[in-house]
Amino acid sequence: MKQVTVSAPSNIALIKYMGKIEGSGNKPTNGSLSYTLENLRTFVRLTEIEGGADQWKPFVREDLQKIELSEKGQQRFIRHLQNLKDKWGVKKSFLIESANNFPSDCGLASSASSFAALTLAAAEMFQQINPQPWGADKKYLSELSRQGSGSSCRSLFTPWALWQHEYAEPMGLEFKDLHHMVVIVEDSKKEVSSSEAHKLVTTSPRFEGRPERAEMRLKDLSNAMRFNDWHLARQIVWDEFIDMHRLFETSTPSFSYMTDGSKKVLEDCQNLWNKWQDGPLVTMDAGANVHLLFRNDQKKQFEQYREHFKKDFKVLAFEGVKDNVH
Ligand code: DP6
Repeated sequence: MKQVTVSAPSNIALIKYMGKIEGSGNKPTNGSLSYTLENLRTFVRLTEIEGGADQWKPFVREDLQKIELSEKGQQRFIRHLQNLKDKWGVKKSFLIESANNFPSDCGLASSASSFAALTLAAAEMFQQINPQPWGADKKYLSELSRQGSGSSCRSLFTPWALWQHEYAEPMGLEFKDLHHMVVIVEDSKKEVSSSEAHKLVTTSPRFEGRPERAEMRLKDLSNAMRFNDWHLARQIVWDEFIDMHRLFETSTPSFSYMTDGSKKVLEDCQNLWNKWQDGPLVTMDAGANVHLLFRNDQKKQFEQYREHFKKDFKVLAFEGVKDNVH
Protein backbone atom coordinates (compact mmCIF):
# COMPACT_ATOMS: atom_id res chain seq x y z
CA MET A 1 0.00 0.00 0.00
CA LYS A 2 1.40 3.35 -0.97
CA GLN A 3 1.64 5.98 1.76
CA VAL A 4 3.00 9.54 1.91
CA THR A 5 3.27 12.03 4.78
CA VAL A 6 3.62 15.72 4.02
CA SER A 7 3.31 18.95 5.99
CA ALA A 8 2.55 22.52 4.94
CA PRO A 9 2.68 25.81 6.83
CA SER A 10 -0.04 28.31 7.54
CA ASN A 11 0.27 31.93 6.42
CA ILE A 12 -0.89 35.32 7.58
CA ALA A 13 -2.09 37.82 4.99
CA LEU A 14 -0.98 41.43 5.31
CA ILE A 15 -3.08 42.40 2.31
CA LYS A 16 -6.22 40.32 2.64
CA TYR A 17 -8.12 38.03 0.35
CA MET A 18 -11.68 39.02 1.16
CA GLY A 19 -14.29 38.71 -1.56
CA LYS A 20 -14.23 36.16 -4.36
CA ILE A 21 -15.68 35.84 -7.84
CA GLU A 22 -18.79 33.71 -7.43
CA GLY A 23 -18.48 30.17 -8.82
CA SER A 24 -14.85 30.67 -9.87
CA GLY A 25 -13.14 28.13 -7.59
CA ASN A 26 -12.00 30.79 -5.13
CA LYS A 27 -10.64 33.38 -7.53
CA PRO A 28 -10.16 36.54 -5.49
CA THR A 29 -11.53 40.00 -6.19
CA ASN A 30 -8.13 41.45 -5.28
CA GLY A 31 -4.50 40.42 -4.93
CA SER A 32 -3.15 39.46 -1.51
CA LEU A 33 0.25 39.21 0.12
CA SER A 34 1.17 36.91 3.00
CA TYR A 35 3.99 35.94 5.28
CA THR A 36 4.41 32.18 5.71
CA LEU A 37 4.11 30.87 9.27
CA GLU A 38 6.61 28.02 9.17
CA ASN A 39 5.95 27.06 12.78
CA LEU A 40 2.22 26.50 12.36
CA ARG A 41 1.85 23.39 10.23
CA THR A 42 -0.67 20.76 9.20
CA PHE A 43 0.55 17.20 8.63
CA VAL A 44 -1.31 15.00 6.18
CA ARG A 45 -0.78 11.27 5.76
CA LEU A 46 -2.33 9.80 2.65
CA THR A 47 -2.72 6.03 2.36
CA GLU A 48 -4.00 4.05 -0.58
CA ILE A 49 -6.89 1.79 0.50
CA GLU A 50 -8.65 -1.12 -1.13
CA GLY A 51 -11.81 0.17 -2.89
CA GLY A 52 -14.69 1.96 -1.15
CA ALA A 53 -15.03 5.68 -0.58
CA ASP A 54 -12.27 8.12 0.37
CA GLN A 55 -12.17 8.71 4.11
CA TRP A 56 -10.82 11.18 6.63
CA LYS A 57 -9.51 10.43 10.13
CA PRO A 58 -7.49 12.42 12.66
CA PHE A 59 -3.77 11.78 12.29
CA VAL A 60 -2.64 10.36 15.63
CA ARG A 61 1.04 10.95 16.26
CA GLU A 62 2.74 11.80 19.52
CA ASP A 63 4.12 15.15 18.42
CA LEU A 64 0.85 16.32 16.82
CA GLN A 65 -2.38 17.73 18.22
CA LYS A 66 -5.46 15.72 17.42
CA ILE A 67 -8.08 17.64 15.43
CA GLU A 68 -11.76 17.03 15.10
CA LEU A 69 -13.27 17.99 11.76
CA SER A 70 -17.01 18.56 11.50
CA GLU A 71 -18.88 16.38 9.02
CA LYS A 72 -19.00 19.40 6.68
CA GLY A 73 -15.28 20.00 7.13
CA GLN A 74 -14.50 16.36 6.34
CA GLN A 75 -16.65 16.43 3.22
CA ARG A 76 -14.95 19.59 2.00
CA PHE A 77 -11.54 18.03 2.52
CA ILE A 78 -12.54 14.80 0.77
CA ARG A 79 -14.05 16.79 -2.11
CA HIS A 80 -10.72 18.52 -2.57
CA LEU A 81 -8.97 15.15 -2.77
CA GLN A 82 -11.52 14.02 -5.36
CA ASN A 83 -10.90 17.13 -7.43
CA LEU A 84 -7.17 16.36 -7.33
CA LYS A 85 -7.79 12.71 -8.26
CA ASP A 86 -9.78 13.87 -11.30
CA LYS A 87 -6.95 16.18 -12.37
CA TRP A 88 -4.44 13.30 -12.23
CA GLY A 89 -6.88 10.73 -13.58
CA VAL A 90 -6.43 8.59 -10.45
CA LYS A 91 -9.25 6.17 -9.63
CA LYS A 92 -7.97 4.54 -6.42
CA SER A 93 -9.37 5.25 -2.94
CA PHE A 94 -7.50 6.86 -0.09
CA LEU A 95 -7.52 7.45 3.61
CA ILE A 96 -6.60 11.03 4.56
CA GLU A 97 -5.29 11.55 8.07
CA SER A 98 -4.51 15.07 9.24
CA ALA A 99 -3.39 16.89 12.37
CA ASN A 100 -1.77 20.18 13.31
CA ASN A 101 1.36 20.83 15.33
CA PHE A 102 -0.49 23.66 17.09
CA PRO A 103 -3.45 23.35 19.46
CA SER A 104 -6.81 23.39 17.72
CA ASP A 105 -8.42 25.16 20.67
CA CYS A 106 -6.51 28.40 20.15
CA GLY A 107 -8.82 29.81 17.48
CA LEU A 108 -6.16 29.75 14.77
CA ALA A 109 -7.46 28.92 11.33
CA SER A 110 -5.91 25.87 9.78
CA SER A 111 -7.63 25.77 6.41
CA ALA A 112 -4.62 27.29 4.60
CA SER A 113 -2.15 24.76 5.99
CA SER A 114 -4.62 21.85 5.74
CA PHE A 115 -5.52 22.32 2.09
CA ALA A 116 -1.92 23.08 1.11
CA ALA A 117 -0.74 19.91 2.88
CA LEU A 118 -3.44 17.79 1.23
CA THR A 119 -2.57 19.21 -2.20
CA LEU A 120 1.14 18.47 -1.69
CA ALA A 121 0.49 14.99 -0.31
CA ALA A 122 -1.78 14.15 -3.24
CA ALA A 123 0.76 15.50 -5.74
CA GLU A 124 3.48 13.32 -4.23
CA MET A 125 1.26 10.24 -4.21
CA PHE A 126 -0.32 10.76 -7.65
CA GLN A 127 2.98 11.47 -9.37
CA GLN A 128 3.93 7.91 -8.39
CA ILE A 129 0.66 6.48 -9.70
CA ASN A 130 0.07 8.49 -12.86
CA PRO A 131 2.82 11.10 -13.40
CA GLN A 132 1.80 14.32 -15.15
CA PRO A 133 4.15 16.85 -16.75
CA TRP A 134 2.72 19.62 -14.54
CA GLY A 135 2.65 17.45 -11.41
CA ALA A 136 5.63 19.12 -9.75
CA ASP A 137 4.96 22.67 -11.00
CA LYS A 138 4.49 24.66 -7.80
CA LYS A 139 2.45 27.38 -9.44
CA TYR A 140 0.04 24.85 -10.86
CA LEU A 141 -0.14 23.05 -7.50
CA SER A 142 -0.87 26.43 -5.92
CA GLU A 143 -3.73 26.89 -8.39
CA LEU A 144 -5.12 23.46 -7.49
CA SER A 145 -4.80 24.18 -3.79
CA ARG A 146 -6.66 27.47 -4.27
CA GLN A 147 -9.65 25.54 -5.56
CA GLY A 148 -9.84 23.78 -2.17
CA SER A 149 -9.39 26.88 -0.03
CA GLY A 150 -8.22 30.21 -1.43
CA SER A 151 -5.65 31.23 1.16
CA SER A 152 -3.94 27.80 0.98
CA CYS A 153 -2.46 28.68 -2.43
CA ARG A 154 -0.08 31.09 -0.67
CA SER A 155 1.22 28.40 1.72
CA LEU A 156 3.30 26.80 -1.04
CA PHE A 157 5.81 29.65 -1.03
CA THR A 158 7.99 31.13 1.65
CA PRO A 159 8.63 33.56 3.25
CA TRP A 160 6.46 35.93 1.15
CA ALA A 161 3.71 34.88 -1.23
CA LEU A 162 1.83 37.07 -3.66
CA TRP A 163 -1.49 35.77 -5.00
CA GLN A 164 -3.05 37.76 -7.77
CA HIS A 165 -5.30 35.66 -9.96
CA GLU A 166 -5.04 31.93 -10.48
CA TYR A 167 -2.10 31.06 -8.24
CA ALA A 168 0.40 32.44 -5.78
CA GLU A 169 4.08 32.97 -6.40
CA PRO A 170 7.08 33.81 -4.25
CA MET A 171 7.86 37.48 -3.72
CA GLY A 172 11.30 38.77 -2.85
CA LEU A 173 10.91 41.34 -0.10
CA GLU A 174 13.36 42.99 2.25
CA PHE A 175 12.20 41.58 5.59
CA LYS A 176 12.70 37.83 5.80
CA ASP A 177 13.33 36.49 9.28
CA LEU A 178 10.31 37.84 11.07
CA HIS A 179 9.27 36.64 14.50
CA HIS A 180 5.63 35.78 14.88
CA MET A 181 3.43 36.19 17.92
CA VAL A 182 -0.30 35.58 18.28
CA VAL A 183 -2.23 37.05 21.15
CA ILE A 184 -5.01 34.54 21.68
CA VAL A 185 -8.05 36.56 22.57
CA GLU A 186 -10.73 34.05 21.77
CA ASP A 187 -10.18 30.35 21.53
CA SER A 188 -13.65 29.15 20.61
CA LYS A 189 -14.69 28.36 17.07
CA LYS A 190 -15.84 31.42 15.13
CA GLU A 191 -19.50 31.72 14.25
CA VAL A 192 -19.06 33.06 10.73
CA SER A 193 -16.58 31.01 8.67
CA SER A 194 -14.26 32.87 6.33
CA SER A 195 -16.03 31.24 3.37
CA GLU A 196 -19.30 32.81 4.55
CA ALA A 197 -17.54 36.11 5.22
CA HIS A 198 -16.39 36.23 1.56
CA LYS A 199 -20.06 36.16 0.49
CA LEU A 200 -21.40 38.54 3.11
CA VAL A 201 -18.86 41.34 2.52
CA THR A 202 -20.18 41.87 -1.00
CA THR A 203 -23.38 43.26 0.60
CA SER A 204 -21.48 46.04 2.36
CA PRO A 205 -21.69 49.51 0.79
CA ARG A 206 -17.96 49.69 1.51
CA PHE A 207 -17.31 46.74 -0.83
CA GLU A 208 -17.56 49.19 -3.69
CA GLY A 209 -13.98 50.31 -4.16
CA ARG A 210 -12.62 47.58 -1.88
CA PRO A 211 -10.69 45.71 -4.63
CA GLU A 212 -9.12 49.03 -5.68
CA ARG A 213 -8.22 49.95 -2.09
CA ALA A 214 -6.62 46.55 -1.52
CA GLU A 215 -4.69 46.70 -4.82
CA MET A 216 -3.43 50.17 -3.98
CA ARG A 217 -2.23 48.99 -0.57
CA LEU A 218 -0.60 45.96 -2.14
CA LYS A 219 1.44 48.26 -4.37
CA ASP A 220 2.23 50.66 -1.52
CA LEU A 221 3.20 47.86 0.86
CA SER A 222 5.51 46.20 -1.68
CA ASN A 223 7.21 49.55 -2.23
CA ALA A 224 7.47 50.28 1.49
CA MET A 225 9.08 46.86 2.02
CA ARG A 226 11.42 47.37 -0.91
CA PHE A 227 12.57 50.68 0.54
CA ASN A 228 12.93 49.19 4.01
CA ASP A 229 10.25 51.53 5.33
CA TRP A 230 8.89 49.53 8.28
CA HIS A 231 6.90 52.46 9.68
CA LEU A 232 4.99 52.94 6.45
CA ALA A 233 4.52 49.16 6.11
CA ARG A 234 3.01 49.03 9.58
CA GLN A 235 0.53 51.81 8.78
CA ILE A 236 -0.59 50.14 5.53
CA VAL A 237 -0.99 46.73 7.21
CA TRP A 238 -3.02 48.31 10.01
CA ASP A 239 -5.31 50.21 7.62
CA GLU A 240 -5.84 47.01 5.64
CA PHE A 241 -7.15 44.79 8.43
CA ILE A 242 -9.28 47.61 9.79
CA ASP A 243 -10.75 48.03 6.29
CA MET A 244 -11.59 44.29 6.19
CA HIS A 245 -13.19 44.35 9.65
CA ARG A 246 -15.26 47.39 8.66
CA LEU A 247 -16.60 45.37 5.74
CA PHE A 248 -17.76 42.72 8.21
CA GLU A 249 -19.42 45.30 10.41
CA THR A 250 -21.26 46.98 7.52
CA SER A 251 -22.49 43.81 5.78
CA THR A 252 -26.12 42.69 5.77
CA PRO A 253 -26.46 40.98 8.17
CA SER A 254 -23.55 42.60 9.93
CA PHE A 255 -21.12 40.52 11.96
CA SER A 256 -17.93 41.08 13.86
CA TYR A 257 -14.98 39.11 15.16
CA MET A 258 -13.60 41.96 17.25
CA THR A 259 -14.09 41.39 20.94
CA ASP A 260 -13.29 43.68 23.86
CA GLY A 261 -10.12 41.61 24.21
CA SER A 262 -9.05 42.33 20.61
CA LYS A 263 -9.74 46.02 21.10
CA LYS A 264 -7.64 46.05 24.26
CA VAL A 265 -4.73 44.34 22.47
CA LEU A 266 -4.93 46.77 19.56
CA GLU A 267 -5.03 49.75 21.91
CA ASP A 268 -1.99 48.45 23.79
CA CYS A 269 -0.14 47.91 20.50
CA GLN A 270 -0.91 51.48 19.53
CA ASN A 271 0.27 52.84 22.89
CA LEU A 272 3.47 50.80 22.80
CA TRP A 273 4.15 52.03 19.28
CA ASN A 274 3.61 55.64 20.35
CA LYS A 275 5.95 55.15 23.31
CA TRP A 276 8.82 53.55 21.38
CA GLN A 277 8.06 54.89 17.88
CA ASP A 278 8.64 51.37 16.66
CA GLY A 279 7.00 47.97 17.05
CA PRO A 280 5.60 44.99 15.18
CA LEU A 281 3.35 44.81 12.15
CA VAL A 282 -0.13 44.16 13.54
CA THR A 283 -2.89 42.32 11.75
CA MET A 284 -6.06 40.30 12.33
CA ASP A 285 -7.72 37.65 10.19
CA ALA A 286 -11.40 36.69 10.23
CA GLY A 287 -11.14 36.06 13.97
CA ALA A 288 -10.55 37.81 17.27
CA ASN A 289 -6.86 36.98 17.69
CA VAL A 290 -4.15 39.53 16.98
CA HIS A 291 -1.04 38.59 15.00
CA LEU A 292 2.22 40.47 15.47
CA LEU A 293 5.29 40.29 13.24
CA PHE A 294 8.61 41.58 14.54
CA ARG A 295 11.81 42.28 12.63
CA ASN A 296 14.88 40.27 13.49
CA ASP A 297 16.46 43.26 15.26
CA GLN A 298 13.39 43.75 17.48
CA LYS A 299 14.05 40.72 19.69
CA LYS A 300 13.97 42.84 22.83
CA GLN A 301 10.56 44.25 21.94
CA PHE A 302 9.39 40.75 21.08
CA GLU A 303 10.16 39.73 24.68
CA GLN A 304 8.57 42.88 26.08
CA TYR A 305 5.35 42.37 24.13
CA ARG A 306 5.25 38.75 25.18
CA GLU A 307 5.63 39.67 28.86
CA HIS A 308 3.06 42.43 28.49
CA PHE A 309 0.33 40.34 26.87
CA LYS A 310 1.00 37.20 28.89
CA LYS A 311 -0.53 38.92 31.90
CA ASP A 312 -4.03 38.87 30.38
CA PHE A 313 -3.98 36.48 27.42
CA LYS A 314 -2.55 33.27 26.11
CA VAL A 315 0.36 34.10 23.82
CA LEU A 316 1.93 31.92 21.14
CA ALA A 317 5.40 33.17 20.34
CA PHE A 318 7.71 31.86 17.64
CA GLU A 319 11.21 33.14 17.44
CA GLY A 320 12.40 32.43 13.93
CA VAL A 321 11.38 28.96 12.88
CA LYS A 322 12.07 27.34 16.22
CA ASP A 323 8.98 26.08 17.94
CA ASN A 324 8.32 27.90 21.17
CA VAL A 325 4.77 27.61 22.43
CA HIS A 326 3.73 29.34 25.64
C1 DP6 B 1 -9.52 36.58 6.32
O1 DP6 B 1 -9.05 31.00 2.33
O2 DP6 B 1 -10.37 30.64 4.43
O3 DP6 B 1 -7.95 34.81 6.27
O4 DP6 B 1 -11.33 30.31 -0.03
O5 DP6 B 1 -13.47 30.18 1.22
O6 DP6 B 1 -11.54 28.75 1.90
P1 DP6 B 1 -11.98 30.06 1.29
O7 DP6 B 1 -11.54 31.22 2.29
P2 DP6 B 1 -10.22 31.36 3.14
O8 DP6 B 1 -10.22 32.93 3.43
C2 DP6 B 1 -9.22 33.54 4.20
C3 DP6 B 1 -9.59 34.94 4.51
C4 DP6 B 1 -8.66 35.69 5.44
C5 DP6 B 1 -7.71 36.58 4.68
C6 DP6 B 1 -6.56 35.93 3.96
O9 DP6 B 1 -6.05 34.90 4.42
O10 DP6 B 1 -6.15 36.50 2.94
